[in-house]
Amino acid sequence: MKISPSIISCDLSHLATEIMKCEDAGVEMFHLDVMDGHFVPNLTMGPDLVRAVRRVTDRTLEAHLMLERPDRYFRQFLSAGADILLLHYESPVDLKGTMEAIRNEGGRCGIVVNPETDVSKAFPFLEHCEILLVMSVHPGFSGQSFIPSSLENVKKARRYIDEHGLGVEIEIDGGINDRTARMAIEAGADILVSASYIFGGNVKERIRALRSVTAS
Ligand code: DX5
Ligand code: ZN
Repeated sequence: MKISPSIISCDLSHLATEIMKCEDAGVEMFHLDVMDGHFVPNLTMGPDLVRAVRRVTDRTLEAHLMLERPDRYFRQFLSAGADILLLHYESPVDLKGTMEAIRNEGGRCGIVVNPETDVSKAFPFLEHCEILLVMSVHPGFSGQSFIPSSLENVKKARRYIDEHGLGVEIEIDGGINDRTARMAIEAGADILVSASYIFGGNVKERIRALRSVTAS
């Protein structure tokens, strides 16, 4: 089980300190929510902030690209230091072609499905991916409530990945706290993304709480 704090909710005026607290608590990776104001009705970070995060951590960086045109922008995120680029199934682009281009340039890929998308639509892309990210809120904002029906997508993905012996990790994103984390892990998730829960209190304690919930 891995924890991937989303820095969207951290105190950006103390970015390095916030990242260090997460590292001290043993997180495996960081989640960077990139929003373009078109694919989702919100704007967040671009490649420069990703570059700043890269300068202060060696952990794996995953960029969650909530973009209408990830094919146009992925190179900038790779050169900023992102390790894994998460592409939405719902982005209206040639996904396989974009994934091939990412991999040719040394990047790694994941695919993301929105809560209303049947996760099986993402299965044909898994041969190009190492992460399948199941959204448990509608993308666009942190601090929303967990959508329980998204657990069906996690369970279905778990079955498929196990049956086919794929080396793909299932990640869940949205409304994760010490209570919903348990449900997500029981449904088969491997990686938990969390923003407002982790950064809305004592960061180290909250990461520990997520870890202990999921270990029990
Ligand atoms: C939503 C983002 C999530 C979100 C998580 O569009 O993809 O990563 O910021 O925030 P919480 O954990 O507060 O739901
Ligand atoms: Zn995200």
